[in-house]
This record gives sequence, structure tokens and C-alpha cells, in this order.
Amino acid sequence: MPVSIRAIRADITTLQVDAIVNAANSSLLGGGGVDGAIHRAAGPQLYEECLGLGGCATGDAKLTQGYRLPARFVIHTVGPVWQGGTHGEAELLASCYRRSLEVAAANDIRSIAFPSISTGVYGYPIESAARIAVATVQNWLPKYSGMREVIFCCFSDHDLAVYQELLKPGQ
Ligand code: APR
Repeated sequence: MPVSIRAIRADITTLQVDAIVNAANSSLLGGGGVDGAIHRAAGPQLYEECLGLGGCATGDAKLTQGYRLPARFVIHTVGPVWQGGTHGEAELLASCYRRSLEVAAANDIRSIAFPSISTGVYGYPIESAARIAVATVQNWLPKYSGMREVIFCCFSDHDLAVYQELLKPGQ
């Protein structure tokens, strides 16, 4: 079965998918941006579960339940802070997508939505971050035949246009 990969503009907390990915920080105890939105929508039990996870390293990913979210699970990943591009940021960002997909495969997740990890508070330029996101996901997916749907969930028309350009066939 082919996997559907698309970009949409939406609030990721509204998506009815098996898992949404959270752009968290290493404490996993919430924050602003998409992290804050996910914790607000999921409710306090998400924080309770995160308390027991002992944080998360940059580039790694950890699974929790979704609680009040329409998504069954949240995969929390910690992106790199942009420091100009010479501090291994590209590899750490790619690792966020790879590790999130590995956690999804290990939990039989069939549909997943990613925000634009690191491109808000962490300052990663959207064009290079989106290129890494799309390339990493497309290169990894052949490893796991169970995935049916991947959504790049953008929060602005500009970000959506960047992803849609990258997802055009033959890019
Ligand atoms: N749905 C989808 N995308 C969203 C939403 C939402 N509800 N809210 C914000 N975004 C987008 C932002 O517009 C940006 O494109 O998510 C992307 C990631 O931005 P941030 O949330 O700022 O995440 P990041 O840049 O990875 O910084 C992580 O910010 O919130 C804190 O605790 C978090 O310390 C961590 C840092």
C-alpha cells in the first residue's frame, strides 16, 4: 500500500491521526509554541506522564498517550537550536524525524503528523529545515511498510508553500 505524504495548514492539536509529533524541549515539561498548544489540548495527564520520562536528548524522541487530544499518541522530540549551521544542527534535526518514525514503527502507528520542528523559538530557517524534514521522511519510509499517512502540519501559508514545493513530484 503506498503511503500518502502531504503538507497542510492546521493546528496540529486538531488532527485525527495515530500520533502527532511535539517540538518539545529537553525537559519534556512543556513550553510555548506547539509544545504549549499540545499540553493545553491534551490536559494535565500529559504533563504527569512526561514527568516520569526523565527528559529527552536533542535529536531523540519519546512516546506518550494523547489523552484529550484526538490523536492517540504524542511523540515528543527535541530539535536543535539554530546556531548558524556549523554545530551539527542538520544531523540533529534529521535525527528528530528519524527517531520519531522509529518510535512510530515500534508502536504500530499508521498515521503521523509533524510540525516544523525547530523553526519557531529554536530559529532554524524554514527552507533548510523543511528540506531536511522531507528528505529524511522520504528516505526512511521504505523501512516500515506499516505507515499509511504522513502529514507535515504547517502553521503558516508561507511554511505550507515551502513544503508543497518540496513535495512536488520529481523534486
Ligand atoms: N500546530 C502546528 N504547528 C504549530 C502550532 C500548532 N498548534 N503552534 C506552533 N506551531 C509551529 C510554529 O509556527 C513553528 O512553525 O510549530 C513550529 C515549531 O515552533 P515552536 O513550537 O516554537 O518549536 P521549536 O522551534 O522546535 O522550539 C521548541 O519552544 O515551545 C518551546 O518548549 C518548546 O523549548 C521548546 C521550543
